[in-house]
Amino acid sequence: MSSEYILAIETSCDDTAIAVLHSDNKCLKILSNKVSSQTEIHAQWGGIVPNLAAREHVKNIPILLSSALSEAKTSLEKINLIAVTNGPGLIPALLVGTNFAKTLAYVLKKPLIGINHIEGHIYANWIDKTTGEIQNLDDIQFPLLCLLVSGGHTQLILMKDHLQYEIIGQTLDDAVGEAFDKTARILNLGYPGGPAVAQQAANFKTNLENKISLPRPMLKSPDFNFSFSGLKTATLYETKKNPQSLKDSSYVAMICHEFQQAAIDVLIFKTLKAAQKFNPQTILLAGGVSANLQLRKQLGEAIEKKLPLIAYHLLPVSLTGDNAAMIGAAAYFRWQKMTTAEKAQTKNNWKKLSTNANLKI
Ligand code: KG4
Ligand code: ZN
Repeated sequence: MSSEYILAIETSCDDTAIAVLHSDNKCLKILSNKVSSQTEIHAQWGGIVPNLAAREHVKNIPILLSSALSEAKTSLEKINLIAVTNGPGLIPALLVGTNFAKTLAYVLKKPLIGINHIEGHIYANWIDKTTGEIQNLDDIQFPLLCLLVSGGHTQLILMKDHLQYEIIGQTLDDAVGEAFDKTARILNLGYPGGPAVAQQAANFKTNLENKISLPRPMLKSPDFNFSFSGLKTATLYETKKNPQSLKDSSYVAMICHEFQQAAIDVLIFKTLKAAQKFNPQTILLAGGVSANLQLRKQLGEAIEKKLPLIAYHLLPVSLTGDNAAMIGAAAYFRWQKMTTAEKAQTKNNWKKLSTNANLKI
């Protein structure tokens, strides 16, 4: 692309998101990045209801498209490439975004590419917070190790180069974000649980002794896998010892602090263990849970102390959750690597692109 526009669409879960990006020969820049959150709608059900999410995406998507285009001061005719998340995610939700993108690609006769949601989360790391520009950042050197932590996934991914992924470890049951959400439900903290648990944990006075002790699952396993379902269950049993204690704010702060620390301890231990084996140049975080300030801070401290030769790259908190700029960023890197024949094929994707709830990276 010389001077061209990318339209990116993301509807894999409960956020409807559209972004417009512009590239010239020098760099790629985000011109608009719109997200419409459905948190309030799903909060009353205590979690995401897939059909409700799809219905809201249908309502939101045309409105977001026009506001994203107008903020980017461009029009549909000027778009050169359409990128859409085609998995993993909730099928009814994914179908809204992919069908919308396919219709646009057909009507506008534009290339269309499907992007893996996880790949998008990883590529949020290449977006500069202040300028909104995407570059081949010098501080992100390969090979890199990415700790991907979201509501649906917990994975350690090794990348030897752009777009090359090797999953070296993953959760055997719940994702860590899911464990945060379920713990919040046990503690009546509402949905989404991650930010609520983190906020309560921050209220715990760290000069006090934490009288609650939760397990650090899989710490001793010889692999790089995780398990968070037992941690959530241990939290449930702990609260059952004295149900009245849930009304005591200092108890809630204490249990949230211990839960969060147990999760962070395991995430950091396994990341460092993998780094020792695979010797990456860089460690990255990605996914919604990477908004967690304690995880960001403690992982950085552990790398500096134990593996000081490895660079630690932190993505902007504002880009940790689901958004479409990250899908556009991943699409940009994909497009750069495609051959002329592959690029030509993307013009047929309006009829070919399929969604996959379990799409592998
Ligand atoms: O990446 P994401 O927005 O959606 C998925 O792809 O799953 O991640 C959402 C997850 C939720 O489980 C949410 O509770 C969690 O990220 N989360 C957090 C924090 N902010 C969001 N977990 C822990 N601490 C946070 N500050
Ligand atoms: Zn996500």
